[in-house]
Order: sequence, then C-alpha cells, then structure tokens
Amino acid sequence: MAIEWSAETREFHLRNDQVSYVIRVLENGSLGHVYFGAALAQGKSYGHLVPGEFFGFSNRLGQPVPLEFPSGGIGDYRIPALAVELPDGSGVVDLRYRSHRILPGKAGLPGLPSTYVDLGSEAETLEVTVADHVAQIEVRLLYTIYRDRPLVVRGARIANSGTAAVVLRSAMSASLDLPDSDWEFLTLSGEWARECHVERLALRPGRQSVSSTRGASGHQHNPFVALTRPATTEEYGEAYGFSLVYSGNFLLEAEVEPFGTTRMRAGVNPDGFSWLLEPGAEFVTPEAVLAFSRAGLGELSDAFHRLFRERLAGGAWRDRDRPIVINNWEATYFDFDEPKLLAIASTAHDLGIELFVLDDGWFGRRDNDTTSLGDWQVNLSKLPGGLDSLARKVEDLGMRFGIWIEPEMISRQSQLFAQHPEWAIGIPTRPRTEGRNQYVLDMSRPEVVNYLFQVVSGILGSAPISYVKWDMNRNITEPHSPTLPAWRQGEFMHRYSLGVYSLYDRLTKAFPGVLFESCAGGGGRFDPGMLAFAPQAWASDDTDAIERLKIQWGTSLPYPLSAISAHVSAVPNHQVGRVTPLATRAAVAFFGVLGYELDPTTLSAQERAEIADQVAFYKQWRELFQRGRFLRLRSPFEGDRDETAWMTVARDARSAVVGHYRILSRPNPGPQRLRLRGLDPAASYRVSIWPSAGQVAGGPARPIVLGGDELMAAGLVLESNRASAERGDFRARLYVLEAT
Ligand code: DGJ
Repeated sequence: MAIEWSAETREFHLRNDQVSYVIRVLENGSLGHVYFGAALAQGKSYGHLVPGEFFGFSNRLGQPVPLEFPSGGIGDYRIPALAVELPDGSGVVDLRYRSHRILPGKAGLPGLPSTYVDLGSEAETLEVTVADHVAQIEVRLLYTIYRDRPLVVRGARIANSGTAAVVLRSAMSASLDLPDSDWEFLTLSGEWARECHVERLALRPGRQSVSSTRGASGHQHNPFVALTRPATTEEYGEAYGFSLVYSGNFLLEAEVEPFGTTRMRAGVNPDGFSWLLEPGAEFVTPEAVLAFSRAGLGELSDAFHRLFRERLAGGAWRDRDRPIVINNWEATYFDFDEPKLLAIASTAHDLGIELFVLDDGWFGRRDNDTTSLGDWQVNLSKLPGGLDSLARKVEDLGMRFGIWIEPEMISRQSQLFAQHPEWAIGIPTRPRTEGRNQYVLDMSRPEVVNYLFQVVSGILGSAPISYVKWDMNRNITEPHSPTLPAWRQGEFMHRYSLGVYSLYDRLTKAFPGVLFESCAGGGGRFDPGMLAFAPQAWASDDTDAIERLKIQWGTSLPYPLSAISAHVSAVPNHQVGRVTPLATRAAVAFFGVLGYELDPTTLSAQERAEIADQVAFYKQWRELFQRGRFLRLRSPFEGDRDETAWMTVARDARSAVVGHYRILSRPNPGPQRLRLRGLDPAASYRVSIWPSAGQVAGGPARPIVLGGDELMAAGLVLESNRASAERGDFRARLYVLEAT
C-alpha cells in the first residue's frame, strides 16, 4: 500500500494490491479524476487518461472533464459535489490545487462516526487542499487507502477562509466520474417490514438516485448503491459499491451525460439542506466508502463486510461472540408482568439462550403505544421490584439482561411533554403530525442530549444491564428548531443526526461493556453510521422466514452477518400470517445474530427440544455465522424466485455452512446441484445435513466426504424433495462442511 505523489506529472496514485485511485492536478490547477478500479502499476503516469488537454471549462462547456470535487457555475453542468451561496448571492466556486499532505493511518472526524485503523501502518491518508481565492472557500479532500482492502474512504472538510459568512447548499462527501455508462444501478429499497429488496436497473441518460428526507436513513432506501456491469453476477464481473457512513438525510445519485460518462455523488441530501459557514468555520461531511470488485458482488460485499466489522464497528463487542437473545416483544407485546417475563426467561435459559431482552412497555404507564415515551421510570405495577430486581433474577438464572429504549421520542401523553413541550420537534404555528402516536425530540438541542444522557445513564447504572435495543419508530415531520435562527433552519436535519451521534458516543463510552443494537421499526436506520456505535441492528420487524430471505439477502450486500440481528418467531407469523416449519425459521435466522422472539412456555416439549438443538447448533458454528465469509449463491430476487441459497465459510476455508431454501414444493422435481464457493479446492470436506432428521430417505447414497474442487466446480447434489421424507413448502436444509 502506498500513496505516491509525482511532482513532475502532478499525479497522486493511491494503491494497494487490489485497487488504484489516481488523481491529477490539471494544467489549470483543477483537481482532475483519472482512475479508480483494479490496481495499476506504480511509478507511471496515467495523466493521458484525462480526456483531451484541459484549458478550463469556458471553451469546453459541458464536456465531461472528470473532477474530484466538482462545483457549479464554471461550465460543468452535471451534479456538483459543492454548491455555495456566496456573500454577493452568486454561486460560482472554482477550486484549484493548493497543497497536500500524505499521512500515516487515518484520523477520526469531529462529531461523526468514521472508519478507523488499529495500527497506523494499516492505511495511509491523502489530504489535498483545494481552494478558490475569489470565493474564499477552502476544501480539504480526504482519501484513505488501507493496505488490504479494495476500497477508498473519502470525505471533505469545507472551510470559509473569507471574512463574510457563506451558505453551503450542497456539500457532498464524494464524487466519482466513470468513463462510460454501461452500468446497472443496484439499490436496496423497500418499506417497513420489507426492507432492502434488491432493485437493479440499467443506467439511462439523466439523473437517478436514492435518498432520504426523513431524518433517518429510512426503510425506503439504504444508503448504499452498487454500479454493476449488466453481466455482473455474484461471482464474476465488475462492480463499484458506494456507501455513506451516515444515518440521516442522504443522497446517492448517478448522472449519465450525453458523452456517455457517469458521475456518482454521495453525501448529505441537499434537498432541504443548507449550512451557514461563518468566517473561519468548517463543515465536515460524513464519510463515503467507494469499493471496487472485478469478481462480482460477492467480492464487493466481502470488502464492505470486513471494513464495517473490523474497522467501523467499535468497542468491546466488535470481535466478541454476540449472545443468543430471547426478546419478549412478539411473545407479550405490552401485556406482561414479572412472573410472566421470568417464566419466559427461565424456559429460554433451559434451552441454552443466553440473554433476555425486555422490550417496549416496561416504563411509565405504557400499556399500549399511545403514552409514556420520555417517562423512563419503571412501571412498578408490572415490575414491582424495578429493573434491578428483574435483572438480578434473570442473572440468577444464568442469563444476561437487556432492555429496549426509544430515547429520541416523546409521547404527547407523558410527563416529559407536560414539562417540556418545546423539546418536541415542530413549528409553533402548526399542529405537529403524530406518527405511532408520538413526536420526535429535538436532538439538535444540547440540553435535550444532556438530559437523555443523564436519564439513560441512570437506567443503565440502576441494574445489571448488558444490552440495549435502541429503537426509533417514526421519522421527522415539521422539521424546525426554535434554537436556530430562520436562516439556519436548513441545518436542522443534520444537527439532529449529530445530536443522535453525540448521545450514542457518550453512552457507549460511559458503558463500554454494554452491547447496543440499533433499530428503527426494524431496518429503518440500518446504516454504517449506526454500526459505528451499535455493532448489530434489528434488520426488520418482519420475522417471517420467507420474507427474511429477501430482507437478509439484500441487507447482506453491504452489511456483515455480525450486524444482522435475526429472530425465530411464532407461527402463524405476526406480520404475514404464514406458517413455516420451526427448522426453516431457525435455518434463516442462523445467518446473522440469532435470537428468539416467542413465548417458549407455550411450545410443545418437542418444539422446545428442537429449539435446544438449534441453539446448540448455532453455538457450535457461531464463529462462522457471525464472522465467516458470507457468500450468496441463489437469489430470491432472480429466476423463478422460488429458491434461495447462501453459505458462510471460515476465512481459512476449513469449515462452511450452506443454507438452501425451497419456498414452494414442486411436483416431480429434477435433479439439482448447487455450486459452492470460497472452499479450498485441494481440501476434502465431510458433509453433514442439518436438521439431521431430514437425512435423505430413499435417495442415492450420498458420499460423506467430498472434494472442495468438486463442490465448487460440479456442485453439491441437493436433496430432492421427491426423495425427501419431509416434502412440503418452506423447506430449508443446511449442509455443514468440515475439512478432514
Ligand atoms: C419496533 C421494533 O422494531 C420492534 O421490534 C419492537 O421493539 C417495537 N418497536 C416496540 O415498540
């Protein structure tokens, strides 16, 4: 890994064994983008890749000169990275190279989550300062390249070096120009209970984007986009991935212009955004991660998984086994008392489950969702001994204890609202819109963040609490803060996110042993910004195994299994009414951080025995399920959409677990094989099936030991449900591979 600077060619070459990123100071001093993709040889100039000789935009209006941080008003009419309103009302900014520094390692960002290094030698950072002496704007562009990751992490720090205030209208984290447009725009889109469905459409002339204006990244679009060649598969072909380390209003946008080039930009959504930059002040953008793969989406995902798990997630839980939880939400909803909870916990403990999570309803007078958010005092009629007594009883069983909170929210019916109505976001002259009967607290106010820190710290200090599920069940409406003057209201949404980060930062530092799980009505804020504080997230309120195949498949494009919280729930499923076998529910939830969300006291002895077997199986393979290399094999979004397959394989390829899911049973199915990936072709693997009761009945004898070469080239012969004793819909089989 190295960052080269050639004073002669005025080129920067950020390079490791997998990727190169080349930047050139153009003849007129603008910072031109030359190349990002597979690694190129060192010590050479690539300046000839910049189209034509560059004299400036005035005589080449609209031509696709690639720029690192484009701005408007100087002839580049494509989507800008930077848009500024200057004191004279104009918006022309023309950034030219001023200086640069090459630094070991990677620095953090003030107020924002970011990727990091454990050792300074893991990465190098290039900081290029570009400036416009007329506009008196100075931008420090940051690029980090790690030694062994096929990606570049980018960001920008935009400063006002003048004597009058300016207004930022758009301040992107990164812009990337690609020389052609033969790409498909892959997004993870959906809604509540059906998050992260894969959408993939060819780029066309003009702009296409995903974004949020909700105050959270949202269920609707994840802050992730991949550009893939039309022929790119999981295994083959080029793909670029763009991810934003941010949890608020975001924009990921592509523009194809008439010369057929593509520009991508990623950053805080300019829609509704403005930022007053006083003289000497600086705006720091969130980080964007730009990754590249020549070997399909599988390799692209692996780059994101490793970065997010190893160098974004922080704290004591980063590398630790995540506990198997039992959560009482779908078991009881708001209707519980201490004996009921202890019965659930005690039965769960007998099955091997490790942590009991007390979900919504333990505080104030919260017997339904109309009341008490903000009143974080325990409801003594439900829990007479308080959280401490319950937590200690759970610990006495031999389990850990965790709680649900939704700190950013306030119910109209609450003592907090009676005391501080002004803390609820709204515009004084308008009624506030309710969502789930609640309002959102103004997290842009430091006194609100301070108050919540005191309250949540008090709760976490009051009992042995090892885990927190931090929920956020509605988005922001009537965005406005009375603490900001009229001309700064465009800052509100970003300041809200900064307030959330500040609270997370303080709490995770004050309680380093607590495992935080983020949640926003399921996957409504499943993004890298949250992962920096909470290394796992509740992927969806939809716990149906068949729906989860799609949700977890899509979520796994950027996010590692260690981040994807997945629970086995009761049937008929509460979201879709579907009845699936218990083994299938587990076989899906295994591929993530496993939990249960049902009342085990109501199950039959046989079902409880099955769960005990599942828990034991998961514990045996937890390392693989939480930290293995995840490979997607058959997509629920492609073909007849009746099948899904994926696998997780150890980094040393000595073991793997393959999941194969058949949604609807087929009459007279043909023989089927599933080609595996990521194995050692020279190794022999002992193959066993889980659950073992489903061993092939009446089929041809299956060899027990198979070669990695055969499993990857010829494939694993799948059990046909013609031969299976257990024919039916919604079937799952796991194949466990152990190198002999
Ligand atoms: C939404 C979450 O996603 C659920 O799991 C549950 O915690 C409820 N909120 C509780 O209100």
